Amino acid sequence: MSTSTSRPTPAAPLDLVIFGGVGDLSVRKLLPALYMAHLHNNLPAATRIHALGRQVWERNEFVAFVQEKVRGFIEDKAFIDAAWVSFLERLNYVSVDATQAPDFHTLAAALQGGSDRVYYLATAPSLFVGICANLHSAGLIDERARVVLEKPLGHDLASARQINDDVGRYFQEQQIFRIDHYLGKETVQNLMVLRFGNTIFEPLWRSPYIKSVQITVAESVGVGSRAGFYDGTGAMRDMVQNHLLQLLCIVAMEPPVSLDPDAVRDEKLKVLRSLRPMTMADVARDTVRGQYSAGASNGDAALGYLQEDNIPDGSTTETFVALKAHINNWRWANVPIFLRTGKRMAARQSEIVIEFADLPFTIFQDSPHQSVNRLMIRLQPEEHIQLQMMAKEPGSGMKLRPVNLNLDLETAFSERRAEAYERLLIDVIKGRLTHFMRRDELEAAWTWVEPIINGWQQLNDKPKAYTAGSWGPAASSALMAREGSSWVEES
Ligand code: BG6
Repeated sequence: MSTSTSRPTPAAPLDLVIFGGVGDLSVRKLLPALYMAHLHNNLPAATRIHALGRQVWERNEFVAFVQEKVRGFIEDKAFIDAAWVSFLERLNYVSVDATQAPDFHTLAAALQGGSDRVYYLATAPSLFVGICANLHSAGLIDERARVVLEKPLGHDLASARQINDDVGRYFQEQQIFRIDHYLGKETVQNLMVLRFGNTIFEPLWRSPYIKSVQITVAESVGVGSRAGFYDGTGAMRDMVQNHLLQLLCIVAMEPPVSLDPDAVRDEKLKVLRSLRPMTMADVARDTVRGQYSAGASNGDAALGYLQEDNIPDGSTTETFVALKAHINNWRWANVPIFLRTGKRMAARQSEIVIEFADLPFTIFQDSPHQSVNRLMIRLQPEEHIQLQMMAKEPGSGMKLRPVNLNLDLETAFSERRAEAYERLLIDVIKGRLTHFMRRDELEAAWTWVEPIINGWQQLNDKPKAYTAGSWGPAASSALMAREGSSWVEES
């Protein structure tokens, strides 16, 4: 019998491999998120991070690049020298041209001795198939490997299917993590708790008790330095097809039987498949495309979209979309769902507004205010929930006035709130798929969105101008007014 006091064998390292490792996403989001996870001891102890890029760099050159570029994306209060130094020790750089099979042997050498592997494809989707094929040929894909796919996942339904087919040749569906970073936001996850962790709203969460639903994701920033990507994409593909439809799914889905990935994703899929397809007449009547013109943003003059760097003359790309959707099922029959997103809007504000039905009859005939009950769920920049109720105005007479029940979640909890990418990266490492999109969800979203984009083309629908710093074109307000509603900031 051995008497040695044997120590547990240290776990083999987990390798996190970032294709596009020196790109914008890696610098602004992934590496800062990994630093935060490291700082809070949320990375498995033996995690190695390999950034891949075409630059022929030594490791120390990459580390210098990270020192210079990534530091600025970490809040000062979270920057701890010792943690930063130990984080840098986890980093490796591998010079890989994703299109060159021999380069993957260099990668294989760097991954020697590792156990689980996560491949994060933060590259143009046109490179996905080549990367997967080269990983496969180099023997770098086993059943424990995972792959993370960054958006844009397709330009239309056919290209989304192609990406899924291509990646699906090398990875099983349960190994594929399609990121929509909105699903990693604390506030968005909290929506599930608001709906399914409380009983009070559920009986009312349906037609005819809900009159309308509004989902707004407004940004104050413009296109910035992303003209090359954005001008060929537009707000519909960049925001509605993914982030807004995912929010809609969480608002509208039936209670899943559990938090198992497929239980949740089955319910979200049902919502996407229940979206009423838009006819050409619907597209003409129920959608609004906009493009910002010169104005002001946060007190500074702001250029119009067409004057931004590298935007082609006369571009008709939309930077704003508002539309009215319908969900064809018992819960949501006849409830208009308004979606709206845009760049260079009056404020950065993401909000879901559930407007409850009008009173069937009012006994307060003399009141200047009508009864309006609204549940307003602010997702960002701050996280709070307001329930707008009617109360009696003090004084004589029976006059009503709206007042808010306020729940400020940031003061209710003192715990740190991790950024979406940090939370999602940890989910990938732990193999938790619940907050990632399944193949059929992605395709169902494209199936609904594509006829709208095609409709705009066929109708030769030019985007309507809106002043930078406003809430969008007037047609967006008119869309609501036709249903007897108004956007929350107008009411
Ligand atoms: C990205 C879009 O997916 O989401 C960007 O490509 C957009 O155009 C961004 O600015 C918004 O994300 P967030 O987390 O800042 O609301």
